[in-house]
Amino acid sequence: MDRILEFAVHLAFEAGRIQKSHFQQSHSIRHKGEINIVTEVDMECQARIMSLINERFPEDLIISEEKENVFDGHENRWIVDPVDGTTNYAHGYPFFCTSIAYEKEGQVICGVVYNPIFDELFFAERGKGSYLNGQRLAVSRTSDMKQALLVTGFPYDVATSRANNIDHFVAFLYRAQAVRRDGSAALNLSYVAAGRFDAFWELKLNPWDTAAGLLVLTEAGGMATDFSGAPFDIYQGQIVASNGVIHEGMLRVLREGS
Ligand code: IPD
Ligand code: CA
Ligand code: CA
Repeated sequence: MDRILEFAVHLAFEAGRIQKSHFQQSHSIRHKGEINIVTEVDMECQARIMSLINERFPEDLIISEEKENVFDGHENRWIVDPVDGTTNYAHGYPFFCTSIAYEKEGQVICGVVYNPIFDELFFAERGKGSYLNGQRLAVSRTSDMKQALLVTGFPYDVATSRANNIDHFVAFLYRAQAVRRDGSAALNLSYVAAGRFDAFWELKLNPWDTAAGLLVLTEAGGMATDFSGAPFDIYQGQIVASNGVIHEGMLRVLREGS
């Protein structure tokens, strides 16, 4: 295992240990918005991850959700979501993870997504495939939308913005076998990589939600674009991620609506 990947796995396990030790206990909750929360565990995981990175790679930039971030420049970066799925975590619902990616000269070369409750570690290195706990991953082969299990999420401004994904959600309810919404974009991307879901779409995401999961997905043979079909960029919020086979069909539904 490459030293960057090995270190990223160590960071994710450290965060997972913290998450597990406070899971299903009461939390101190701070509101970033009406429904957008952060717990003391998000902060503790972030602090632990940042101090380990600063110790080992002091030259590298860190982008992490619960701190002020500067996005310019081409330094080597760690892109971290200390808890992806905070709402689930705060409710004691076991679907959340830590997401850690390493971007070198503008390219994500390593991605790790870890759910400590299921003890599932998804990881990928550019050009070397992606794995779940050591087992090689491959996307599904589902080609018929009526047999596809899809997943999505909604932005925190769902109640106040018109671009809230509800129209797309309804459109896919009519077309797909079923649609899920389970609250962790990083796990959603990893699950498409594992063939558990056939496709995922969402808008208004941040790089810490997608950077690691995107590499896990593409290294498993999956495909990611924006809603227009242009290559997905982690610094733009809109993503359609799929097994590749139903990608065109996903874009068509997003264009045409219900
Ligand atoms: C959220 C989750 C959720 C998605 C939201 C994200 P957070 O991240 O990934 O699935 O629908 O858009 O912001 O806030 O739990 O880290
Ligand atoms: Ca997130
Ligand atoms: Ca988060």
